[in-house]
Amino acid sequence: MTEVLLRADRINKRFGAVVALNDVSLELMAGEVTGLVGDNGAGKSTLVKMFSGVLRPDNGTIRFDGENVDFASPAAARGRGIETVYQDLALVGSMAVWANVYLGRELLTGPAFLNVLDKRRMISNARDMLERFVARVPPVDEPVESLSGGQRQIVAIARAGAWGSKLIIMDEPTAALGVAETRAVEEVIHGLRDRGLTVLVISHNLDQVFRITDRIWVLRRGEVIGSRETGNTRPEEIVAMITGAVPADRLG
Ligand SMILES: Nc1ncnc2c1ncn2[C@@H]1O[C@H](COP(=O)(O)OP(=O)(O)O)[C@@H](O)[C@H]1O
Ligand SMILES: [Mg+2]
Repeated sequence: MTEVLLRADRINKRFGAVVALNDVSLELMAGEVTGLVGDNGAGKSTLVKMFSGVLRPDNGTIRFDGENVDFASPAAARGRGIETVYQDLALVGSMAVWANVYLGRELLTGPAFLNVLDKRRMISNARDMLERFVARVPPVDEPVESLSGGQRQIVAIARAGAWGSKLIIMDEPTAALGVAETRAVEEVIHGLRDRGLTVLVISHNLDQVFRITDRIWVLRRGEVIGSRETGNTRPEEIVAMITGAVPADRLG
């Protein structure tokens, strides 16, 4: 039994004369990892920015978790349980891992007016949160800048998964990483799904898309070409959909 967590219906978005998205409709199934693929400029980033509250559609509707939503800001999307891992990761390098996990959500101890941070509790909780998704937890009291790129990405993803979120969005999460680090990040993505979270990931690495996703949606020049269950397709078919060697599905 799979339920739809997010449904985008006939989304349009223009930037001046550029039609970035043309009548885009797509569904994300709860508990699945969905891949979004397409050539440069296909509209992938623009589409996920609608879901994360960075951009608003010119028209069309987005239904999330049973309600129509119209996010005025990223904070509004986060408030509904949509967390986005940005390419620049939005981590503070000079601050410890635990402080980054709690960035903007700091715990206090003692009387509120004293504003004393409950460091001990945040360190211990941060470790627990990372352990939920990560086999080898990075040292939580080290500054983020002392971690490798892959460990930073893992902290950012685990932080996104830690706060009661329902949907985690990632735009090219391993674009800057080496092979071993990429695999570690993929394990974290599996960990999110094992915990029941829904994940939407943009990636131009088709091998990766086939390793981590349950379903793949293809965009070309701002239009949805179609979707496939990952287990029922092959890279050759997805490439053909991306490049236009096959016509768009008749989606009804
Ligand atoms: N802020 C913007 N202003 C003008 N054009 C934009 C903007 N963002 C995206 N575009 C254009 O919209 C189209 C889709 O871009 P994008 O969503 O970034 O594609 P992708 O992520 O698939 O590479 C491209 O033609 C791009 O140049
Ligand atoms: Mg992009």
